[in-house]
Amino acid sequence: MIPMPAKKKVPTKATAPKSVTKPAVVKKEKEEDGEQKSGKTFDLLRGFRDILSDDQGRWNLIRDTVRSMAEAYSFDRIELPILERSELFNRTIGKGTDIVEKEMYTFTDPSNRSVSLRPEATASAARAYISHGMLDRPQPVKMWYTGPMFRHDRPQAGRYRQFYQAGFESFGVNEPIVDAQLIVIGYQILRELGLDVKVQINSIGTTECRQAYLAELVAYFRQHRNKLSDEDKRRLQKNPLRILDSKEEVTRELLEGAPQILDWLDDKSKEHFMKVLEFLEEVEVPFVLNPYLVRGLDYYTHTVFEFVLADDEGAKAQVALGGGGRYDGLVELLGGRPETPGCGFALGIERISRALEAKGINPPERPQPQVFFAQLGDAARRIGLQLFEDFRQAKIPVAEAFGKNALKAQLDVANKLGVQFTLILGQKEVLDETIIIRDMESGAQEIVDVKKVVGLVKKKLRHEEGVDPIMQSPVEVA
Ligand code: HAM
Repeated sequence: MIPMPAKKKVPTKATAPKSVTKPAVVKKEKEEDGEQKSGKTFDLLRGFRDILSDDQGRWNLIRDTVRSMAEAYSFDRIELPILERSELFNRTIGKGTDIVEKEMYTFTDPSNRSVSLRPEATASAARAYISHGMLDRPQPVKMWYTGPMFRHDRPQAGRYRQFYQAGFESFGVNEPIVDAQLIVIGYQILRELGLDVKVQINSIGTTECRQAYLAELVAYFRQHRNKLSDEDKRRLQKNPLRILDSKEEVTRELLEGAPQILDWLDDKSKEHFMKVLEFLEEVEVPFVLNPYLVRGLDYYTHTVFEFVLADDEGAKAQVALGGGGRYDGLVELLGGRPETPGCGFALGIERISRALEAKGINPPERPQPQVFFAQLGDAARRIGLQLFEDFRQAKIPVAEAFGKNALKAQLDVANKLGVQFTLILGQKEVLDETIIIRDMESGAQEIVDVKKVVGLVKKKLRHEEGVDPIMQSPVEVA
């Protein structure tokens, strides 16, 4: 046998770094993505963004709403790794899908393994369910997560290459009520955020009934093959179900006469789906049956759904704020116990944030300070440092302008911020161990003992607003 050279590893087929896109596409993407401009500063990669404080108020609102919903419905938080073995996604999302074919950030790590930045987290959740023996826990095992996902897709409004999801997964129970409850959770999160949404829903049955349907679908489209775009021809050959999702006008027209998957469901699948719909009717979640909804991941079985804005209804390309479905074969596909059911969904945080912005919903990132600290000189700054900590412990946010020295300049900032009180600490006050509290509206000033200032300001804020500055709720009058 000829020994292989030990040092330079030749990537085998299994470990070869998969190029992100095909050569022709790579060239086009390169032109569009542009090279790094010469100079010392760096551009963001296309499709990647910094999420600045302008957006953080909305993001906090979304995350808080998701979290309180997860807690109310007893989902446990799980942190999943961002990097996984590529095979995890290849096997579950499916080789013929856009995500696996074109959109994964795949590379060979220093240990010569093919790894990928996660394009989604359901496969990782299923892996975690298996690897931590969660099968032995009371079922369903319910988990939720939030974090960045990566897809090298064509960036456009609401579509990024790094985007954030909040997801819910439920393993171990195949009852239709699980599907319905997950839909209710997603719907209620969006409602609570102030968005008017509808659920698009379909059933794609089991792998078996889908096979019979697919044969029929392919036969139908073969008759019209010459009318199809190259992309749709390719879909027909590689992943025919995805043709239902085509955006091509001709294909959409042809779809009207195409066989519909609901007619091919076996009795059990039909019954499952009908029950899900009945539950949704019961809790008055508005849904629209969409026989073309198939979703871009291969692991789904039975129920599939998406959340769309109600006023987007009828729009050519509806933007999904979230989507999900049942995946009864996923755990088995990953080597777990056969017939372990599962169901879940994920919401797209950027898309929800955009929808909130369009509605003018823009909560502040953090409570606006009602108190400003103005200092004159180093000794005052030193005392100020401790005062900030005392106010923090009393949960009263305080603003400052340490870059400015003159009192007038500092008061200008305080005015701009619209605070109610400014605390002024000059050299005299430092010597006397006092501090001035200035009411910014009336201009009245009061000199008080610096040790008592936190308590006094707290009391004043309460009285001025009739609101507890800490709890942000009306003060109860005994
Ligand atoms: P997905 O439909 O691929 O499903 O993604 C869920 C949501 O993530 C989408 O509805 C959308 O709001 C957001 N999203 C997807 N791609 C992008 C992008 N490029 N830019 C911005 N937002 C995006 C899944 O990922 C499944 N894992 C969901 C699931 C969980 N199914 C069962 N459990």
